[in-house]
Amino acid sequence: MTDHPLLGKKFERVKRVIEREFGVPVPGDIVPAEQWTNTAIKKLPPPGPLNFAEFFGRTAPVMLDIGCGNARSTLASAVWRHDVDHFSTDVLPVVIRYATRRANQRGLKNVRFAVIGGRELLADYVAPHSIAEIHVYHPQPFYDARLVHKRLITPEFIALVHRSLAPGGLFVLQTDNPGYWKYMQQIVPLFFEFTELPGKWPDSPRGRTRREIIALRQGLPVFRGTGTPRVDIAADDVLKIAESLPPPTFDADRKLKELDKLEHGSDSGDRPQRRGKR
Ligand SMILES: C[S@@+](CC[C@H](N)C(=O)[O-])C[C@H]1O[C@@H](n2cnc3c(N)ncnc32)[C@H](O)[C@@H]1O
Repeated sequence: MTDHPLLGKKFERVKRVIEREFGVPVPGDIVPAEQWTNTAIKKLPPPGPLNFAEFFGRTAPVMLDIGCGNARSTLASAVWRHDVDHFSTDVLPVVIRYATRRANQRGLKNVRFAVIGGRELLADYVAPHSIAEIHVYHPQPFYDARLVHKRLITPEFIALVHRSLAPGGLFVLQTDNPGYWKYMQQIVPLFFEFTELPGKWPDSPRGRTRREIIALRQGLPVFRGTGTPRVDIAADDVLKIAESLPPPTFDADRKLKELDKLEHGSDSGDRPQRRGKR
């Protein structure tokens, strides 16, 4: 117990566990174990529109964080926006395990995680015009020519984002790769009213995601934009237009590959710290 300097009353000091990554606090507090949740969806049902209301036990706007990595962006949004449900996915089970553990330990009820590719998620599991927001932060550029076919941002993917979003829904796209950004600038405005956002995120000037934090620490530019689906394209034409557009065969510049080593390094030099809070 301690005295408040102004009110003079006794206050109990609450122990907080502050988790940091590259010195930047991970959003949300770790709560006592009895309040932990279970945010993992271990096995998705067979393809067909997902019933998000069933997953979350309520009907609320749904945000997808595709290629979420360790899901820093999901956590921040879920901690601050209790009225939004978050469905976050990645192809790598190991990063989903990290993400799930953090969300569970924060007692979050408005988050679920699943292992699935972004294209497959939108093509096979998302009903048309059902999603409020789709966020894609730093899709992997894939430097090796043999892996270029794995790039997430293709005309078909952007068309699927268009099909998935509700009218007026929000698309957020961000990368630190200049070649990828140039390609995105070519394709995305064909489907979205898209605006480039200069500067840093006002809500997270040190970075919304792990990859963004690393890029900013290296002094690299981060490119981002947000958009809403264009209404002047007939729903039936969206996928047809995509078929006529060039695939993402840009040069990702192998020099930038060094950044990946930092990103995949397990030790960010941080340890959870305990700190008292009034
Ligand atoms: C560069 S990391 C960025 C992670 C996180 N969004 C961030 O900004 O820190 C790219 C992530 O996309 C995932 N990924 C790669 N291909 C994917 C795909 N087709 N669908 C979904 N996720 C994918 C990778 O496993 C990796 O976690």
